Amino acid sequence: MDLKNLEILSPEEVEKLRGKGIFTVERLVICSAEELVETLGAEEGRIEEILIEAWKKTGHWFIRASDYSRQAGEIVLTTGSKALDDLLGGGVRTKRITEFIGEYRVGKTQTALTILVEALGREPDVHAIYMDSEKGFNDGRIMEIAKNRGYDGADILQRISLVPVVSCYHMMKSLQWIDDVLSKKKGRILVVDSVIAPFRSEYIGRETLAERQQLLGKALDQMSKIAEAYNIAVVATNQVVAKPEQTYSYDPLAEVTPAGGHILGHRSQERIHLRKGRGDIRIARLIDSSWLPPGECMFRITERGVEDIPEKKTAAKNVAAN
Ligand code: GTP
Ligand code: MG
Repeated sequence: MDLKNLEILSPEEVEKLRGKGIFTVERLVICSAEELVETLGAEEGRIEEILIEAWKKTGHWFIRASDYSRQAGEIVLTTGSKALDDLLGGGVRTKRITEFIGEYRVGKTQTALTILVEALGREPDVHAIYMDSEKGFNDGRIMEIAKNRGYDGADILQRISLVPVVSCYHMMKSLQWIDDVLSKKKGRILVVDSVIAPFRSEYIGRETLAERQQLLGKALDQMSKIAEAYNIAVVATNQVVAKPEQTYSYDPLAEVTPAGGHILGHRSQERIHLRKGRGDIRIARLIDSSWLPPGECMFRITERGVEDIPEKKTAAKNVAAN
């Protein structure tokens, strides 16, 4: 909804907001009062007036509970593997952050790319934003996955806005200005691969940890608000780091911990730990969800991206295991 629909705003105020990357009412409602005081140079009373009007327009101001459903309009996107979709209660959802964690080369990027190709392949009019801080975005691979899934890869690439992230500031500003893309296009998915990389390279050493965590928390809050405001799925990846005190355990997560610590855990609604199996096989474990039972599944990475293991292979494996 263009800012013009918010009659309370003067043309000067609209201009000032646009100058800070705020083009829609959806984006305006997720601003903090401080951000608006700074942007508009207005008194808090005026900001309050504006925000209340904006909250009313977007259904955030004293609505009847019977008219409300958090799930309303929520869209489920496939991961490319039925087994992984089932683990996630159908797939990756809009309005939420789904986080894939795991060690180097386990398939986090491949999973994100397959979700992206499927989302854009199935719906011809939707767009994606891809923030790549690890140089993992690969147009050739997108073309390959798309072709093997029967989609037009060139058309899909046209509908991805890529941000090759070069610094923390760059990532934060891209999030702030996301309305520049989403005010003109119907967004469906935001991939952030990975969330932590720019923070880890810029904030080195224990003494910067508090500052790093604070900024990381801010970035994640913004992603979470974006997911909700624009009804898009946020797919984030994250590496795991070795725990300082290593103890042997059957639990694959006992020896590692997601980078970024609890800051990420609190914000991502679903967290999936990936680990390597034999050959191209990967094991996914749902480790953190507010509404799904924990569980595990297997899939593989092939020329189609992420996909199911053929029946025969799983059956043979089950027999071997018995
Ligand atoms: P980091 O970004 O290094 O932390 O790793 P990641 O978890 O993102 O791993 P990524 O998604 O890059 O997966 C790498 C693995 O996917 C490789 O070891 C391969 O097994 C597989 N893979 C990557 N590209 C291809 C490809 O073009 N074809 C096939 N068949 N497999 C691929
Ligand atoms: Mg990667």
